[in-house]
Amino acid sequence: MTNLNLKHLLTLALILLTIATKGTTCTSSTTRVKGIYWLENPIFPPSSIDTKLFTHIFYAFVIPNNLTYKLEEPNGSTTIAKSLTIFTNTFKTKNPPIKTLLSIGGAGSNSTLFSFIASNPTARATFINSTIEVARTFGFDGIDFDWEFPQTTNEMNNLGELFFQWRNAISAESVTTSRPPILLTAAVYFAAEFFLSGEPRAYPVQSINDNLDWVNVMSYDLHGSFNNKTGAPAGMFDPKTNISVVSGLFSWIRSGAMPEKLVMGMPLYAKTWTLQDPNLHGIGDPSVGSGPGMDGAMAYFQVLDFNKQPGAKVVHDVNTGSVYSYNGNTWIGYDDPFTVSIKTGFAQAINLRGYFFWVAGLDTSDWKISSQASKAWKLV
Ligand SMILES: *[C@@H]1O[C@H](CO)[C@@H](O)[C@H](O)[C@H]1NC(C)=O
Ligand SMILES: *[C@@H]1O[C@H](CO)[C@@H](O)[C@H](O)[C@H]1NC(C)=O
Ligand SMILES: *[C@@H]1O[C@H](CO)[C@@H](O)[C@H](O)[C@H]1NC(C)=O
Ligand SMILES: *[C@@H]1O[C@H](CO)[C@@H](O)[C@H](O)[C@H]1NC(C)=O
Ligand SMILES: *[C@@H]1O[C@H](CO)[C@@H](O)[C@H](O)[C@H]1NC(C)=O
Ligand SMILES: *[C@@H]1O[C@H](CO)[C@@H](O)[C@H](O)[C@H]1NC(C)=O
Repeated sequence: MTNLNLKHLLTLALILLTIATKGTTCTSSTTRVKGIYWLENPIFPPSSIDTKLFTHIFYAFVIPNNLTYKLEEPNGSTTIAKSLTIFTNTFKTKNPPIKTLLSIGGAGSNSTLFSFIASNPTARATFINSTIEVARTFGFDGIDFDWEFPQTTNEMNNLGELFFQWRNAISAESVTTSRPPILLTAAVYFAAEFFLSGEPRAYPVQSINDNLDWVNVMSYDLHGSFNNKTGAPAGMFDPKTNISVVSGLFSWIRSGAMPEKLVMGMPLYAKTWTLQDPNLHGIGDPSVGSGPGMDGAMAYFQVLDFNKQPGAKVVHDVNTGSVYSYNGNTWIGYDDPFTVSIKTGFAQAINLRGYFFWVAGLDTSDWKISSQASKAWKLV
């Protein structure tokens, strides 16, 4: 079973890589992106990151104060300042050099606050000013905005206006200081429209094309134990629904996003499930909750340990372009060097700007997935 699927997957990979090398002309002079987020933590310091494998590193996260709308340490201590300084200093002295971006927001951040900042001209101007000041003070090359997520069409319109004002301020600062403009990016949903829950709403694609350097498309967390059945968390395809990496990226392109403004996200972590019946262990089989790992998530290096246990089976699934493993009633969906090669081949075939990973510290200590992605990305 595994071998057959592997053969199919290999064929697919070859097709995609052929398209990628023959069919694309890298017309623009835009820099390619091999990105990775680093989440503030003491175990995996910035100095652990192998900069040969990446072009851009995102510091996650800082948030604006909810009364002043400026980026600052809420507690008035210097903890964040210290951490930002260590981060940018680390990469200033690394060879090859690598660009640093300061990421604002994150999954747990205050969506109401972002909604207000985006809608109120005074708060918005204060916020924008502070982000540029902080980025320059600490020597970042760019700013990344991670609002998860605008809830209404109105908020999406305000997000478009925020990007427009942000770009104006960045251009003006660049002129005044005679320095290259700082980069402006945003992390966005896997699809250009929200169609699964809440008010249907679409990203302000025109403003993104006009004002951002690119968006980081969060093409992961597509399935989880909340579905009550197994699924590929970052599957390229989904034969039954359009909740997949490829559907999401195509929805961005359909909605008018320039491919060179799109950077595909890939997880360095797995999602885990507990199977209802250990004998039903395919994709879409019933589950009764999450499996091992905090919140049902596991680092890739932990999955490799799981896979070494007696009885564990690994399956490359051609229908979803994903890999999973299982043992007893535990089921794990993830990406490995092989699926990542196929994804990066696909991303090149449709002329995307690059890819990024969430998050540093979850790959193997010798960077198996990250090295494979970097190797597979053939275009400069
Ligand atoms: C601001 O944020 C802090 C820290 O999260 C919180 O304790 C406080 O209640 C918030 N204040 C307002 C006015 O929202
Ligand atoms: C605030 O600062 C104090 C003193 O530096 C420290 O003990 C405390 O842990 C900090 N609290 C937060 C939430 O950062
Ligand atoms: C989020 O921000 C809003 C607007 O500033 C504020 O009213 C609310 O208290 C904040 N929530 C938290 C949890 O800080
Ligand atoms: C931020 O505002 C201050 C005060 O008005 C101004 O001096 C500074 O140039 C502004 N910075 C940017 C980056 O716009
Ligand atoms: C999953 O099962 C729980 C508990 O039975 C139920 O509340 C929930 O609605 C189910 N979720 C889906 C997506 O079917
Ligand atoms: C998926 O299908 C739904 C229903 O047809 C549609 O509303 C949505 O826009 C589609 N999304 C993507 C990402 O293609």
